[in-house]
Amino acid sequence: MKLSVIGCGYLGAVHAAAMAKLGHEVVGIDTDAEKIAKLAAGSAPFHEPGLQELLADGIAAGRLRFTTDITEAADARVHFVAVGTPQLADGDGADLRYVHGAIESLRPVLRPGALVVGKSTVPVGTAAVLVDRIAETGASLAWNPEFLREGFAVADTLTPDRIVYGVVDDADAGLLDEVYRAALEAGTPRIVTDLATAELVKTAANAFLATKISFINAMAEIAEVTGADVTTLADAIGHDARIGRRFLNAGIGFGGGCLPKDIRAFTARAEELGRAESVAFLRQVDAINLRRRERVVEHAIELLGGSVFTRRIAVLGLTFKPDSDDIRDSPALDVAARLYGLGADVVATDPHGIDNSRAKHPQLEYVADVGDALRGAELAVLVTEWAAYRELDPRRTAELMAVPRIIDARNALDPASWKAAGFEYRGLGRS
Ligand code: UDX
Repeated sequence: MKLSVIGCGYLGAVHAAAMAKLGHEVVGIDTDAEKIAKLAAGSAPFHEPGLQELLADGIAAGRLRFTTDITEAADARVHFVAVGTPQLADGDGADLRYVHGAIESLRPVLRPGALVVGKSTVPVGTAAVLVDRIAETGASLAWNPEFLREGFAVADTLTPDRIVYGVVDDADAGLLDEVYRAALEAGTPRIVTDLATAELVKTAANAFLATKISFINAMAEIAEVTGADVTTLADAIGHDARIGRRFLNAGIGFGGGCLPKDIRAFTARAEELGRAESVAFLRQVDAINLRRRERVVEHAIELLGGSVFTRRIAVLGLTFKPDSDDIRDSPALDVAARLYGLGADVVATDPHGIDNSRAKHPQLEYVADVGDALRGAELAVLVTEWAAYRELDPRRTAELMAVPRIIDARNALDPASWKAAGFEYRGLGRS
């Protein structure tokens, strides 16, 4: 089937390449000419495992191309809208200008019988506003939220946990069944619903995940003042299948381009709907999350005897999670900047996040090699749990550092072996 994907960021670029892999003929469209040039050359504009290969395969097979020219979408049967919905600059709500912009630019090229499929995360009620604008062209609208995680985006897109379509007309669900036939034949659960439910499924899923993380981080706060161990606590409650162990890793908290802005947008939308109290707890989820960053800074001050001023601190990790170069709302980069702001001599490292971090915080010192970051430091702070940092050898690390002290802000290390190597070790919510 001929498909277009409007917006080639994390979501759109992966979706376009994955749809080509499934055998469709796909054109990816974006207004950013630099991004399009990279994608057209088969080069991923961001770090995402497996994407480069998927792009190259799709382009070589002649099923995948990229352009800035929206008219090239005209002969597509299905148009996916995968543009960003960032947080408003002056509020908690979602900025929908790119969604509206994409719809308006598509309208002149839409043909009767075409289907526009929203994939962007939007406040519930957004699709209802767009339906008539699309219907005027003879096309129709569906909403098909995406649940991909960065770092696993390719696998999550090709073999999702579930597929959700919000449709106005059942025939549109049939068309989407054709698009996703390979995944459906492999047994992926499919839920067909109305537009509002589909929008809300995505918002609710992210709100639940954020709540789960802040719940365990709240337990970490209690563990810290009682000598309990939050990691063991998470293991113990996680054995209850109703709770589950995943997303119960206490530490520096969640960041990235989705969870933080999505819970704020949900709160803002609930206020507009007169239901602020229904999701008032999400304000606490956000507040608990942001307290974690401050807690890491407090630990650093305590470990260094009352001040970080002029003290050399190695910050291990900058991205909001491993296997990504994304620094949007990254707790790791935030902590590095806060320590710098307090006068610390910060040297930061990350396998893939340095270029993006330097563009945002040019004042920090960055080194590519973790050994160079650790050399001569009086404190190391592990803030993103890249495998390379999880696997650091404590004895070798101690030899490099001026003083063996570490804050394991992701609870990613084995405290016993680090203490045995002479480290003053601090986890978050574990002793
Ligand atoms: C998230 C959702 O998981 C995904 O379904 C949705 O489509 C987009 O938002 P992503 O932002 O890629 O995906 O990252 P995710 O793996 O969910 O992690 C989010 C943040 O939570 C990261 O900063 C991560 O470090 C943190 N996290 C995750 C924890 O602090 N503890 C955990 O136990 C799990």
